[in-house]
Formats: sequence, C-alpha cells, structure tokens
Amino acid sequence: MKVHAAALVLTLCASAMAFSPSSLSSSSVVVVPTTSSTRWSSTRLAMSTLDRPMSSSTPPARVSPDAGHVPDWEGRRNPTSPDEFMNSDPTSPNVGETMWECPLTRWDAEGINVREAQDMARDVPHCPLEIRASFEDNALGAEYFVRNRERLRDDLVKHGAIWFRGFDLMKTVRGNRLMHESLGLQPCLDPLHSSGLRKFASERDALYEEVNKPSLRQHYIGLHNESTAKRTAAYAAFVCFQRATEGGGRFLVADGAAILAELDPAVLERLYDRRVRISVSNLDIPPALPSLIKEGIRSLVDVAVAPKFDMDLEMMYEMDGKPGRLQAVETAESPINRHPVTGLPVWFNNAHNHARKLRDRRPCGVPEVGMTEVFYADTMDPLDLEDCLEIKRASEKHITALSMEPGDVLLVDNYRALHGRDVFQGDRFHAVTWFTWDRNEEWRGDERRIVEKNAFNKAINKMMDWLPKDFVSDQS
Ligand SMILES: [Fe+2]
Repeated sequence: MKVHAAALVLTLCASAMAFSPSSLSSSSVVVVPTTSSTRWSSTRLAMSTLDRPMSSSTPPARVSPDAGHVPDWEGRRNPTSPDEFMNSDPTSPNVGETMWECPLTRWDAEGINVREAQDMARDVPHCPLEIRASFEDNALGAEYFVRNRERLRDDLVKHGAIWFRGFDLMKTVRGNRLMHESLGLQPCLDPLHSSGLRKFASERDALYEEVNKPSLRQHYIGLHNESTAKRTAAYAAFVCFQRATEGGGRFLVADGAAILAELDPAVLERLYDRRVRISVSNLDIPPALPSLIKEGIRSLVDVAVAPKFDMDLEMMYEMDGKPGRLQAVETAESPINRHPVTGLPVWFNNAHNHARKLRDRRPCGVPEVGMTEVFYADTMDPLDLEDCLEIKRASEKHITALSMEPGDVLLVDNYRALHGRDVFQGDRFHAVTWFTWDRNEEWRGDERRIVEKNAFNKAINKMMDWLPKDFVSDQS
C-alpha cells in the first residue's frame, strides 16, 4: 500500500512537472491586428481588463497580448506534407547522440546601478535584424552562410536576433542543419531536456519541436529566455517549416536591452533589490492531511522527482496561499543580467511568461499543476499587480510578432533576446535547435549528452501526446 501511495505521488509530480511552464517556455481568439489603430485599441482593451481585481465571480477576460510591431505577411506556400520538410540527410553524422549538455547559466548580476544600466541599454541596434534572401543569395544555398559567417555572427550579437526571410535552403531539415553548421554553431540539449517537455523533431539533426501540440495551440507563450536559473542555451535557431494552417501562431521576439531601458526605474530597482524566484509546478495535497504526512510527501518529491529535472528546486508549501499546495521553486535570481560577451545589462527574466496575474488574463491552456508563479525572493510574496502590469507594458511595447513562413529562421542570442509565440488554429510545424558556446569553450564545459538518461524524457512525451486536442476550452 505504501508503495502504491508513493507511486501515485511520483506520477502526479511527474504529470505536474510535465506541464511546467518553462517548457511552454521554454509557445481564444487570435488577435492579429492589421492596422496600428486596431493594434492600440486592443492594447487598451487588454489593459482595462487587467486593471480589474481578480475574483471568482468575474474571471479576467482572456485576451491575447499585443505586440509593438507586426510585420507584413507575405504568403509563401505551405508544404503539402511533412515529407517535404522532414527530409534529413542519412549520410550526415548523427549529432543527436553526442550533443553538448546545455551550458550552465552565466550570471553576472552583482553591483548593477539600475539607472546607469538603463542608459547603457538604450539606443542599441534594433532587434531583430531582418535579412531577405535575394535571388543570388538563394542560388548560393549553404555557401551564402559560409561566405557571410563572420558578419552574421557579429550581427547576431549586435542586434540580438536575425530574421532570415525567404531562404529556400531552410525549408527542409537537411538544409536547416546545413545553415547552422555553415555558421559554425554547435548544438546542445534543451535546458529542460531531462524534464521530457522537449521532443525531438529530428534527433539526429539536433532539432527539437517547438510547442506545436494541438493540445497547447490555444496557449499563449509569453516572453522568456530559454533558461532556468541553472542552465541557459547560448543561441537558438527557430525555423518555420509550416505556418499555422488556419491562422495565428506568430513568433514573438523582443530585445532584453530595450525592455530594460523601457521599464519604470522604480519597478526595476524594486525587482533588482528584492530579486525573484519562479515556481514551476504545483502539486495540490489535501490540506487536511496531518503535517507529518505532508512533510513526508515533500521529502519524497524533493529526493525522488525534483532531481530528474536538472534544476535547483526547493519544495515549498502554500507560497501562493492555496491550502495544501506544494510548489517547486527555483533559486533566487536577478531580473537583470550582464550579457556574457558584451557586458551589456539586459532584462533577463521570464516573468512575462510565468507571472500568474498575467497568465490568468490571457489564453492559457495549462492545467493547474503546471501553472507558474513569480515571487519576490525576499518575502516569497507573488509579484503584485502593478509590477506585473509594468512588465507587461514594457515587454509588449518591444515585441515584434513575426509572420514566419516556410524556410524562415530566427537566429537568437538567447542572453539578449526573449521569445514567445501567439495562439494559433490548425496545424503548425516550427522547430528549434539550441547552441552552446563555440567561441568561449571554457563556458561550454565538457559535458556531453548521456543518452541513457533519456527514459524520463520519452515517458513524459508519450503522456503529453495522449492529451486530447484543445482540452482547455474556457478561453473567450
Ligand atoms: Fe522557448
């Protein structure tokens, strides 16, 4: 009997963490404004609904947040079937088996003067840089990226992201891999690989699926760096093989430097001084259970489940005020970090994605077990509404909502730029490869993937695939 109880707890925890947000960290009605006037009117609508206090009788309206900039849609043809883009080169080496581990997060956040940091972060080159393929560029194929490697790598760090548009090369898995190999990038595991939240699209090509699952297409993924307090990918290449067949699904990118410069200095100073902690999962235990048993459950999760996630987690009861709730909480972190290469201070924090007061007011397809929260680290109080609103305002002002088309790639400097994605309808196939440090090998470490540790990843993915389509239907 004891064994069964333990197994149940473990299963619940695994399920809970399987929905962990960072995963949805690491993408209703879709708001795809076509004019600036509709864009701003929907912003006002979103803000007015946010001003209302939460109560059980008047749930907040679920509105997909806006973006400061929405580029034109071009209408490239979607491939007719996955066979067209899932084309891997069987003669190329299987890099999936020998990938680097995701490197440890490089924190450099001590002694930052917030106002000076904001001055430094102002007026940096725009993110993303947009590059459209010419006829000649496309004729070069992978050679384009070989010839322009140094310039493109410099531009990546200078702008924080590069949006490659209209390149024929990256319309297939094979060509996409040639692109990043030509740029000299070295693939690594996802920061949450061990959690099972990441599924390979093509393992031998180090290519993960983005959050395309039908069960999560009505879930808005807020801005985040692909990062936990412990591990952070250096760079990423997000590729579109098939845009959403029935609309939506724009990819979101925003400059962490621009957000830092934009934020109200008083809010920023408060967050920097108090630091933040993020809870990534909830496990609701009957509150009436004796405290001895509740402690036993906490210890069991702490010892048996949490280590599977390769994060530094602390199991804490009732931090968000819900009786009996056990939360897995990351260590304290600064919301500002200096960029490892440039030293530029940037907003390096996932609160826009994880803060409960924001998630509750927009399309969110995550069950309660996977809902996240952001706390002030000094008191463990959830971020208050005013701070959440300021993070939302500053973040969304600097979002560019990309209408990615088949073959488009967004190359991202993951310490500088944040990303997310809007809700969508129909089927969508985007994928991503993460990269470690290739020019600063001492930051990369020497850990390679241990394939035997993959069982948990596969088990959780299988469970996620069983979820019914659109299992959350309460979006307005
Ligand atoms: Fe992500």
